[in-house]
Amino acid sequence: MTLVHPPLVAAMVDGIETEGPTVASTNPARLDETVAEVRLGGPGVLVAAARVGRAAQRHWAGVPAPVRGTVIGNFGRLVEDNADALARLVTREIGKPLAEARGEVQEIIDTCRFFLGEGRRLYGETVPSEMPDKQLFTFREPVGVMMVITAGNFPVAVPSWYLVPALLCGNAVVWKPAEYAAACAGALTELAQHAGLPPGVLSMVPADGSATAAGLAQALEAGAVDKVGFTGSTAVGREIGALCGRYLQAPCLELGGKNPMVVAPDADIDLAVSGALFGGFGTAGQRCTSLGTLIVHESVYTGFRRRFATAVQNAAIGDPTRAVLYGPLLDARFAASYERHLDQIRDHHTTFGSTAVGRIGAAAPRRGFVGDPAEGLYYHPVVVDGVRPDDELFGEETFGPIVGLMTYHDLDEAIELANAPGYGLSSAIYTNDPSTVFRFRRGIRAGMVSVNNSTSGAEAHLPFGGNGRSGNGSRQSGRWVLDQVTRWQAVNWDYSGRLQKAQLDTAIPDADLAFRLRP
Ligand code: UN1
Repeated sequence: MTLVHPPLVAAMVDGIETEGPTVASTNPARLDETVAEVRLGGPGVLVAAARVGRAAQRHWAGVPAPVRGTVIGNFGRLVEDNADALARLVTREIGKPLAEARGEVQEIIDTCRFFLGEGRRLYGETVPSEMPDKQLFTFREPVGVMMVITAGNFPVAVPSWYLVPALLCGNAVVWKPAEYAAACAGALTELAQHAGLPPGVLSMVPADGSATAAGLAQALEAGAVDKVGFTGSTAVGREIGALCGRYLQAPCLELGGKNPMVVAPDADIDLAVSGALFGGFGTAGQRCTSLGTLIVHESVYTGFRRRFATAVQNAAIGDPTRAVLYGPLLDARFAASYERHLDQIRDHHTTFGSTAVGRIGAAAPRRGFVGDPAEGLYYHPVVVDGVRPDDELFGEETFGPIVGLMTYHDLDEAIELANAPGYGLSSAIYTNDPSTVFRFRRGIRAGMVSVNNSTSGAEAHLPFGGNGRSGNGSRQSGRWVLDQVTRWQAVNWDYSGRLQKAQLDTAIPDADLAFRLRP
């Protein structure tokens, strides 16, 4: 099969055709290239898709889980057999370097492989009863219809973290991707639909923010959605959490991060530099796991700074189809918001890492730029030294190629600085001392801790998620995500033929608790 990604991407909902104007999804590396025309759906399309999902879900939940697992396995095979086309589409639509796009596609395949097997597990338990002739059991039940709203920085892998386990567990899914990554969403949905999913079980609806907010509110009010999964900003996550709370629902929220990296006095400095380069500037700093602030021990600061400056200055930036550390920013909106963060650089800061700060172009060239910077949304990497705890740059997610740098004196101070912004997604420490590792692990509020590894690069089968401003404690990936896409049902079966009342009729042997051994 060859992957077809039509130039028009519209809602993919069984039995529903949408009409109306389109917006262009452009290649951020070549702004004059339209990747797809995207027909945005209004709130009504989202509600209709949820209703279609509701009708299809009952039958899908009745398909045996191992058979659903086979469908997921087929989805993984189709992604694998179309990996090159899908990765190239990711690079074209959001500007992620091709090597990273291939890694992103691999993350879908890994997720499918994991959940293919889960179809043959999806374990419940048998639990002893306090009564004779009575058995207790637990069963995992699908939640029903899930609305999944995702960002475009990982336009196919992060959605698959929701779609794959949700579908495996017998749910229907309505997926609302980022508009600027709609062609990727269309391609992934096509692949899933060719894997043997019954019609209506998976829908995809491109929509803008306000239509999504209205559609979600209406679908919740209509009782058409049972669970929401959202990956995006902390501000929007707060709104979604508040809205879902009114319907007694706990959404799965995967929000921003201001991820710290601590470099301890005994760290392997070259290793820390390579981790900081990838964590801070990979995907142009537009991962939720991107490095936010480097917290470097004062005794190694000078050497670290020198080597990090060299690494950032020499990094290849440019055309994402070539061998570069990073390409353009995702989209004009992200570039504008990143520029607002650059305005937070203050007089007490010093910057390094490139020949200028801001957009790369004829007036502010970057040495060694790969390609023509005028074609896309390219920005200089910038390291901001001398960051202080009361700086806006210290406390806010910046989502772009910018990294803060500060020093610390003792580990407690480093942990306090690492926690101070109030996020809690990813974190990293470079050290070879076990006591430093475990003190850091215990003190840090992050959901994910890397030791001698970058803040980015989570494997597809460990729990992914954060605390504080990074989320509401929900976790994706591996077996942990099952608690997001299923609910426990407890069953007790009494075959004694009489009413045995728990607690009241439980026969406990007499005990002589006053008994003491003779001295
Ligand atoms: C995200 O940015 O939303 O660990 C997810 C990583 C990737 C996933 C990032 N595997 O950086």
